[in-house]
Parts: sequence; C-alpha cells; structure tokens
Amino acid sequence: MRIDILTLFPEMFEGVLAASILGKAREKGAVVINTVNFRDFALDKHRTVDDVPYGGGGGMVLKPEPIFAAVEHVLADSPSRAPRILMMTPQGETFTQAKAEQLAQEKHLILICGHYEGFDERIREHLVTDELSIGDYVLTGGEIPAMAVVDCVVRLLPGVLGNERSAAADSFSTGLLEYPQYTRPASFRGWDVPDILLSGHHANIEEWRNRQALYRTWLRRPDLLERRPLDEKQKRWIREFEQGIKP
Ligand code: ADE
Repeated sequence: MRIDILTLFPEMFEGVLAASILGKAREKGAVVINTVNFRDFALDKHRTVDDVPYGGGGGMVLKPEPIFAAVEHVLADSPSRAPRILMMTPQGETFTQAKAEQLAQEKHLILICGHYEGFDERIREHLVTDELSIGDYVLTGGEIPAMAVVDCVVRLLPGVLGNERSAAADSFSTGLLEYPQYTRPASFRGWDVPDILLSGHHANIEEWRNRQALYRTWLRRPDLLERRPLDEKQKRWIREFEQGIKP
C-alpha cells in the first residue's frame, strides 16, 4: 500500500510514522508513506494556501488550487487505478473499524489535512472520494485524525502485526469489547487473577472469556449489541446479566 498525506505541517508526522508498529511496517516495506506539503504547490510567491471566504464572515478558507495540484502530483504515479482521496473533517462520516478494514484493501490512499480553516467546497465536490471524521469533537486540524486513520489501517495490512490473530480478536472486529486480560503475578497487592485462568482448562477459559466480553459490551456499549446477531447462549447470558448475575 502507498499512503500520501497532504498537510501544511509534515513535521507533525515525523515521530508518529517512525515509531513502533508504523515504523516497522515501513521498514519492512508493508507500506510506503509520504508527507506532501501542499504549500509547495501554491501558485504565488507568498505561497498562499488560504483566503477570506466569499460572502464575508470570519476565518480563512483553504484555496482549491494548491490542494488540487498536490493531489494531481501524487496521482501522476499512483499504483492504483482508483485511489481513495480522503478528506479529514468533522463533517465527514465517522471513521470505524469497518471503514478501516475497507480502506486496508486499497493500493493507494491520499489523505488531505486542513488546518484551522475550512476547505473550499469545490475540493469536497470535485476531488475527494471520502470525508472522514474521527469523532464528534473539533481538533485544530486534520493531522491528528490522519494519524489515527493511518495507524488503524496500517496495522491491518498483511505482515504488520506479528501475531496474525491479534487484529482479528480486537474489540470492534469481533463486534464485542475485549475480555479482561491478566499477566503475572497471580496475586498483586492481594488482588488475585481469576482462578479459571490458572486452571489450564482451555474450553472453560474460552467460555469465561466469551461471557466476559459479552458482559463488558452489555455494560459499557449496549449499542454494539443492537446491531449484532446473538446466539442462544449469549441471549441466556444477557438475561442473567439483567437479573444482576455477574459473570
Ligand atoms: N478536523 C478537525 N476535527 C476533526 C475531526 N474530529 N475528525 C476529522 N478531522 C477533523
């Protein structure tokens, strides 16, 4: 996969793209990530990227020319016939694990980050394929949302996570929150790891984890259960939770 990130602040990405799993994924060649400063594509000697809004009102608006030119520049050697051009904006569709899984199938993603201001509407209408929001809150720019999207997509690419199972078992991939995890010591300040996890009985452990995952989801994110089919055992467990029986 190739990812191009269009931003006025490429330096914001340096640490994030070099560290940990993203850094390793790039080293291994699982993904190629470039940052492109679209100020380099401004047309005038002042390198202007924004201007006052037509019709008046406060704030500045990102001009179309530098962003179109920067996107066209990266499209010129795109590895894909239909790259996705993603605009980071609080007005976009909410980014989800399902969206990340869809984007992870693509060969080329282009992310456009605004900063402070809005975008000229013609960028929305005639350039981008998707508008993405990372949640109902407003950040100073699209850079942090772009980092979240890139991180989430890259970890799904083949060969990026050492343990192939670890992405498939994630919260939201299974549709349930994850069950509680423990590691050594078995007793810490008098708080003990549940006996069943020390029992070595794999089938019982599996059942305990499934029930815990369902309980946690029922307690914290009941909205996730509404969109998901439940089997008979899960329905029975939920009736028990409703009666106050904790797993
Ligand atoms: N830009 C500013 N806030 C944002 C958000 N919540 N999601 C995506 N882009 C943004």
